[in-house]
Amino acid sequence: MEGSRSPHRIPLPRIRARRVEMTIVSSASADSVLVVGATGRVGRLIVRELSDKGLKAKCLARKPEDDNSKYLKTLPGVRVVEGDVTDAVSVRRAMDGCTKCIACFGAARIVKLSDFWRNGEAECAHPKSVNYRGVLNLIEAAKDTPDFEKFIRVTGLSVGVLNR
Ligand SMILES: NC(=O)c1ccc[n+]([C@@H]2O[C@H](COP(=O)([O-])OP(=O)(O)OC[C@H]3O[C@@H](n4cnc5c(N)ncnc54)[C@H](OP(=O)(O)O)[C@@H]3O)[C@@H](O)[C@H]2O)c1
Repeated sequence: MEGSRSPHRIPLPRIRARRVEMTIVSSASADSVLVVGATGRVGRLIVRELSDKGLKAKCLARKPEDDNSKYLKTLPGVRVVEGDVTDAVSVRRAMDGCTKCIACFGAARIVKLSDFWRNGEAECAHPKSVNYRGVLNLIEAAKDTPDFEKFIRVTGLSVGVLNR
């Protein structure tokens, strides 16, 4: 009832849920899609979708033996390789043989106010190391990968702010 509504509650706009079709690859492609952040909430859905479409996915995982990695390994056409996006060598190794990359990883730790003036690149879990340096590592690896075609980055709030 309109009159009983709390004065602090701001009505949210109605957003109609829409299924986003993944059109980045055709089923004819024999190459793997590198998925970075595959063990996360968004990543697991992406990998499942790729697998359901009969595509090959290579997942970069920090802990290839944890439960999420084990789940990914049960999906047809899915491979899990060990690596960390802040480690350029493991990123290059994972990128080998892939012509597409979906980067849906995110720094696990919450952004602190001090992150805006501290250089966080020395700390590997810092959002700047993960979100910024990590993407640079992927782009550098993709540039050196023969026939590389497409790079998709899924981000959230604050990513641009910390890039400066
Ligand atoms: N969830 C949402 O509703 C939503 C909405 C909009 C945007 N997003 C964005 O989508 C992205 C993923 O969100 P999410 O909810 O799926 O996050 P999540 O469940 O926390 O997953 C984060 C993923 O990033 C990986 N990761 C973190 N640091 C890494 C590193 N150094 N090297 C390699 N992988 C690393 C994690 O691996 P481990 O398993 O090893 O920790 C995990 O797979 C984020 O950028 C987020 O801002 C999410």
